[in-house]
This record gives sequence, C-alpha cells and structure tokens, in this order.
Amino acid sequence: MKHPLPALSLALSIAAQAAEPVKVDIQADRPGPVIARQIYGQFAEHLGSGVYGGLWVGPDSKIPNVRGWRSDVVGALKAIKVPVVRWPGGCFADEYHWRDGIGPQSQRPPRVNTSWGGVIEPNTVGTHEFMDLAEQLGAEVYINANLGSGTVQEMAQWLEYLTAEGDTALARERRANGRDKPWRLQYWGIGNESWGCGGNMKPGYYADLYKQWASFAKAPRGNRPKLVASGGQELELNWVETLSTEIKDRMAAVTHHQYSLPTRDWKKKGAAVGFPEAEWISTLAVPQTIDGYLAKHREILDRNDPAKKFAIYFDEWGSWYDAEPGTDPGFLVQRNTLRDAVLAALHFHVFHRHADRVKMANIAQMVNVLQAMIVTDKERMVLTPSYHAFAMHLPFMDATSLPVQLAGVPDYTLGKYSIPAVSASAAKSVDGKLLLSLTNTHPNQPLPLQLAVGGKGVRAVTGQLLTAATMDAQNWFDAPDRVKPQPFKAEARSGLLALNIPAKSVLVLEVQP
Ligand code: AHR
Repeated sequence: MKHPLPALSLALSIAAQAAEPVKVDIQADRPGPVIARQIYGQFAEHLGSGVYGGLWVGPDSKIPNVRGWRSDVVGALKAIKVPVVRWPGGCFADEYHWRDGIGPQSQRPPRVNTSWGGVIEPNTVGTHEFMDLAEQLGAEVYINANLGSGTVQEMAQWLEYLTAEGDTALARERRANGRDKPWRLQYWGIGNESWGCGGNMKPGYYADLYKQWASFAKAPRGNRPKLVASGGQELELNWVETLSTEIKDRMAAVTHHQYSLPTRDWKKKGAAVGFPEAEWISTLAVPQTIDGYLAKHREILDRNDPAKKFAIYFDEWGSWYDAEPGTDPGFLVQRNTLRDAVLAALHFHVFHRHADRVKMANIAQMVNVLQAMIVTDKERMVLTPSYHAFAMHLPFMDATSLPVQLAGVPDYTLGKYSIPAVSASAAKSVDGKLLLSLTNTHPNQPLPLQLAVGGKGVRAVTGQLLTAATMDAQNWFDAPDRVKPQPFKAEARSGLLALNIPAKSVLVLEVQP
C-alpha cells in the first residue's frame, strides 16, 4: 500500500497489519438501481449569509461576479457539478411572496426574515436572479412554493410567470422584467416542513391541501415540474404513510428531513470543533439510523405505491452544531471539519443503498450555513472538508449501484453507540469504471482491507484519500488546505490486493479487476 501520509499513519498502519483484513467484495454482476445525480443536490436558503454575501454580492461589488453572483463561489460549485439547487427555503419558503422579488430593484419591498434572525430581507435576489444562478451553475431548479402563508392563486401565478410561453399578462410582465423565454423548471415543492415552521399541520390536513394546490400547479406540456409533497422528519412514518395513501397522482416525491446533532438535543447540540470522541461517534451514528428508517419508508411506499411512482427526496440533511461563538444564532454558522466529510460519505452510502426510492437529496446548506460546501469572508473563500467529500464522489453521479459484501468488519463502539468501523458503497460509473467508496469511522485505528470483485482478485486501485491529523481538523482562512484529498494507489501482490484504510478517513477508488 502506498499513500502520501506521514510517519504517524505509517506507525498506525503497522499496528493494524496484525489484524485480520476486512474483506470487501464488489458484486459487479448484480447491477442495482442508478444513483440519481440529484442525490448530490444542494440547498440555498435566504438565511444568514447563505445567499447574500456568500453567493450574491451584487453587480456593483468589487468582488468579481457575473450579474451579481460571485465568480469564485460559482466556479467552485461548478467544479462539483451541482445537479440541482433547492430555493428559497426551508422555513423561509413559507413566508416568501414571489412578487416581492421581481421588477426594478429600487421598488422591491424590504421585509423581515422572521425565520432567520429577524433581519431585513431586501428581496434583491428574486426569481430572475435565482434562475440566472441556476443557469450559471448548469443546475436543475427546485423551487419550494409558499403553502404556509401564501395562496393557491399566488403559487399558480408564480408558475405561470416562470413557464408561460404565449402572450399572457404574466408572460408580458416577465418579458418586461428582462426575460423573454420561459425558464426550464424541474421540481416544485408545495410547502416545507408543514408539520412545523410551514404551518404546524397534521398529515391528513396537509394531504387535502396538497391535492388542492397540486390541481392548480399548471405549466405547459414539456416544462411541467415534478410536484413534491412535504413529508416528515426523523423517525416519523405517519407523513409518508398518509401522503402515499391519500394522494394518488400529481406527486413525484415525498420529502424527508433529518439533521445530525451530536447530542440529539436541540437546546445544546454539541460543538463543531473541539468536541469529545463521544460526539464523533454519536454524529457518525446518524446515517445508520437513517438507513433503518429509509428501509421502513420503503416498506410503506412499496405497499402503497408498488408501481414506484413516488420517490423520496431527502431534501434537508447534514450536521447541525451549536452556532459559532460570536455569531448570530439565527444565521446557523458552524465550522466544518473532517467529521463532516466522513458524515457526508456515510450519507452517500445510505442514499446509494436506497437509490431505487431516494431520487434526490439536498445537503443543508450550500454556502456559509450549517454543513456548507464553501465558507466566505468578504472577498475570501474556503472549500470545506464536506466540499471535498462531494468532489471525490463525483463519479458516482448517475452511476449504477453495485452490492458490496463485507466480511469481518469490526464494530467501533463507545458508550451507548456502536457503528461498523467500515462502510462501503460500489457502483459502475457512466463511463464504465468500477468505483468503490469506503470510510473508516474509527478515529484511531487504521484497518487492513482485502479487495475482490465477484470473489476474484483485484489488480490495482487508484483514487483519493481524505483524512487529517485530528477528528476536528478544519479548513479555515488561515489554513484553507488542512483537509484536502490526497492521491492514493495500491497494487496487488501475489494476486491479492491488500491495503490499509487510515483511521477517520474517506477513500474513493477506481478498481481495476
Ligand atoms: O436548514 C435550516 C432549516 O432547517 C430549514 O429552513 C428548515 O426547513 C429546517 O428546519
């Protein structure tokens, strides 16, 4: 095994060589469902500096930009081929009135963002600006409409404004505001977290409202967005049960949300850096829980929707820690460390495993908020460890999932948590490459692995390794490359390919059988 890590990892590798190797066997002859590239989707809410400052600086800014969107951030996001962006919220979506965000900037009404910090929402970024961002990114558009405090008519007219082709009053208004052709629109969410910030509803009440609203969510043939119903969170199953029973058509997907809180306590979630090992394992245990209840969701959907018309969109996920000291708690600013990168990879493995139903997932959130890809400070930007986890998994977009047989995986146990030390996911990429993603969740113990494809030996692997000296290693403005993928390769000796996966790491490999 060769990797560019220094003496510390060499010592750890030697320690691990004594252990029995974990056997990883990719079942290349048993192709599963395609891993929708939308599983690598993003979420940008009007929250803190998630939009203003982080993405949008305005056309007159000294920070280089294209029509107001900062070029450095857009360039970095293009490099991870952002497949879809959900906007404008979140909780913000259910208080957003689209007419506030069109027309001359000087006439746009300032409002209070009551969901996030009570700050003034200037409405500088509205429909035209967001659609421009999506076009600059080459991303699909997922707009979340306001069911909570809006009206059916308001929603219907927003859709018409976006998509009308003919000479209607709304199409004329759009043209007068600078956009001639209708935009392409892929996904249309009806409400967000309707059980909570979106209106505190019961699932049966929401299902009735959904049917009414979906009846008026109209767009020209060929440009009709997929309609998305707002589902439950965490372990709740009654939302997916009710929605998939009550709603028979005009619903492409039910959403689900789950955040990873180290302590599971919303009042004291746990620190983003300087946390104890107990909070490393408790955070990394969340994807395993998600795996369990996605299986339960699928059971319900398989019973109520055997034809598989309805997908699950996991449109909010990621770590949620105590706010960065000194920041407004309403802005959800937190540092991003190696723990977040491992957490992201574990989520990818779960979403891949359920790829027959999970057709979209959106990390919360894209820039400066919660488990962000990018952090900005005025003209500076830093790519987070989570960004690198996304970049490493690019070849998995639209790949065909493959089962992996794991044998001899030790448990990593601490306190009340116990998770497998090794997690794996394999796929065949669109260009025919055999891919393997691995994590070692143990913070101190490297592990020997032996790779096979269909029981036969592997010749070589090449790829990228992400690890760092500490569990909470972070990229920050003073050290932007502390956590960064390193090239990794290994070759078979005597017909067997053995390698050591370093402690607390993510490894993405192209496998040569
Ligand atoms: O991502 C932050 C918030 O978390 C979203 O606005 C809301 O939908 C969820 O509760």
